Amino acid sequence: MPIGLSILGATGKMGKSILALAANQPNFKVIMGTSRKCLEKPSLQKIANVDVSMTNSAKLAIHNSDITIDVSSKEAILAHLEYAKQSLKPIVIGTTGHSMEIQKKIEDTAQYAPIFYTPNFSPGISLLLQLVESIKASGFCENCSIDIIETHHIHKKDLPSGTAIALAKATGKEIAEDATTKSKSSQVRVHAIRSGEVIGEHQVIFECDNEQIKLIHQAHSRDVFAQGALAAAAFLIDKKPGLYSSINNRLTLKNNCSLKR
Ligand SMILES: NC(=O)c1ccc[n+]([C@@H]2O[C@H](COP(=O)([O-])OP(=O)(O)OC[C@H]3O[C@@H](n4cnc5c(N)ncnc54)[C@H](OP(=O)(O)O)[C@@H]3O)[C@@H](O)[C@H]2O)c1
Repeated sequence: MPIGLSILGATGKMGKSILALAANQPNFKVIMGTSRKCLEKPSLQKIANVDVSMTNSAKLAIHNSDITIDVSSKEAILAHLEYAKQSLKPIVIGTTGHSMEIQKKIEDTAQYAPIFYTPNFSPGISLLLQLVESIKASGFCENCSIDIIETHHIHKKDLPSGTAIALAKATGKEIAEDATTKSKSSQVRVHAIRSGEVIGEHQVIFECDNEQIKLIHQAHSRDVFAQGALAAAAFLIDKKPGLYSSINNRLTLKNNCSLKR
């Protein structure tokens, strides 16, 4: 039986990528997509060349599917969490820019419904986080200055990216409030650039006295996130309530839509 999937934010850049990919996968059946421009009553529309039943009601989409992927907006997360809690259905959250308060709300809701939450669905980024943690564990970066540079398209709303913040946390150092100040070895400086249509690039630079380690991850296509989102959905579908993540739980999202611990 294919997994009945709804996509919140189906008309967005990420929503369309996920929709197009899911429509070509036999283990998924797209049930509904949401957009604020639609009516509540579902109507068939062509999005990303896929015929999909569209509604403005996230509640309807969540209640009527086996699992939901939320790639809409951080503004809508509280309502989406409430519907997930009511329905007890699993939800994959890919939106970014959430406050500590919202992150706490995500943890609370995960007591009732299975939640997969990650600021980055790419398998390369899970690996990058592990590399940063192993550099930290080696002691190499104790006296280094560390800079993280993230570059994204000009439409991206949050700044710095959720991924840059996760990478900074993985260094074990505090994030400098002002990235333009002289670097201190106790801090990591995070620099955000918004330029053109860049899909996503993260650099982590460890600068020591006589040497430098520079790690760079570039996403060449949104398909990498879409594949990761579907892999997360396939992973989450039979899980008990709880909070799962490719970052905190050390899950590696693989391109072939399977997922391993
Ligand atoms: N986890 C990851 O790997 C990953 C990767 C890329 C992006 N993201 C995140 O995913 C989210 C979407 O990114 P995107 O680039 O696809 O953005 P986008 O192109 O602007 O699409 C946003 C979608 O959400 C809907 N939307 C916007 N504001 C809303 C609101 N207040 N309530 C309900 N729906 C709303 C929009 O549709 P209507 O205007 O028609 O309602 C649209 O379908 C962002 O938070 C982004 O940071 C995550």
